[in-house]
Amino acid sequence: MSARLADLLPDDDIRLDAPPLRWGIAGPGVIAADFATTLLANTAQRLAAVGSRSPERAAAFAARFDAPVAGGYDVLTRDDVDVVYVATVHPAHAPLALAAIEAGKHVLVEKPFATSAAEAQRVADAARAAGVLAMEAMWTRYVPTYRVLDRVLRDGALGTVTTAVASVGWGVPRGAAGRLTDPATGGGVTLDMGVYPLWFAQFATGRATRIAAFGRRRGEVDEEFAAAIEGGGGRLATVGSTMAATTEGHAEIAGTEGRAVVAGHLVFPLGFDLTTRSGTEAWRDERLLPGRGGLAWQAAALAGYVADGVHDSPLHPLADTIALATAMDTIRAAI
Ligand SMILES: NC(=O)c1ccc[n+]([C@@H]2O[C@H](COP(=O)([O-])OP(=O)(O)OC[C@H]3O[C@@H](n4cnc5c(N)ncnc54)[C@H](OP(=O)(O)O)[C@@H]3O)[C@@H](O)[C@H]2O)c1
Repeated sequence: MSARLADLLPDDDIRLDAPPLRWGIAGPGVIAADFATTLLANTAQRLAAVGSRSPERAAAFAARFDAPVAGGYDVLTRDDVDVVYVATVHPAHAPLALAAIEAGKHVLVEKPFATSAAEAQRVADAARAAGVLAMEAMWTRYVPTYRVLDRVLRDGALGTVTTAVASVGWGVPRGAAGRLTDPATGGGVTLDMGVYPLWFAQFATGRATRIAAFGRRRGEVDEEFAAAIEGGGGRLATVGSTMAATTEGHAEIAGTEGRAVVAGHLVFPLGFDLTTRSGTEAWRDERLLPGRGGLAWQAAALAGYVADGVHDSPLHPLADTIALATAMDTIRAAI
């Protein structure tokens, strides 16, 4: 049994060498650089253009990653761009995604997809009307750990799932400036790191049907929340996120026949430990792309879907994106 779990592979078909698309990058910031690094190192995808409010920043990014075109955000609507990766601060996600969709581009939009469920719905509707693929960059869903864990859940190894627990906290010092603490750039914990434990809860216990949440503010943004969530079939999740402290990134799913505990960190999983009546077994990611190297999986997944004519991610469909945005609306309203 031990050997069998350790050898289990995802049963979906994400290939890092999926046919290349020409990528445009919107917003040459921290995550865009991490994305470009792993895209070039670990996939067959190509960089076509970089857009920024600053031509100098776009040119510097393009030079660093050898992208042929740099300029304002309008370069992303060029004919030689197939897909736009929106990696700006959150409030610019929906406007830039809508502009790209209007130009007939597929879009991979950083999490959170939008700053509200209504905005997320507008982008989803526009993508469906244009016949392009819009996908939230919920990259954790695409790494091997969660694809295998999904398979284990579907195979019933935990029996009936009843409970999930998830927490992500990365401390941001009080008084620190930056996009996380500035309301103008969509600051606050919920829309940022809070997305991850909420996604995990949804992954484990289904889309939320009821949420009770408490939280605390830091100035004009939300600093921390704790939420009790009822998912599909009355399954329960306990979720927390904080930028007042750094937590270990615990993530666990329990059911009538056992439990699965993510190894490492919820956001940077190394695998998981599965405990059933027969004991504890480990599954570890033999193809681990460490740290944010794992962003490559979502890009390769998107390229594969486009090649296959699939216009909604089977692993994280737009309905899940909108459900997540609805949960974030509820929690932010409670805080
Ligand atoms: N998947 C992940 O692991 C992960 C990790 C970190 C962040 N993220 C997400 O990625 C996004 C960007 O985060 P980041 O850490 O890369 O931020 P960042 O380094 O501050 O970069 C954000 C970019 O947004 C652009 N931008 C466009 N309009 C802006 C405005 N009005 N004000 C400020 N900047 C604006 C800026 O580009 P120009 O000024 O050059 O136009 C800037 O380069 C966020 O939505 C975040 O949630 C995801």
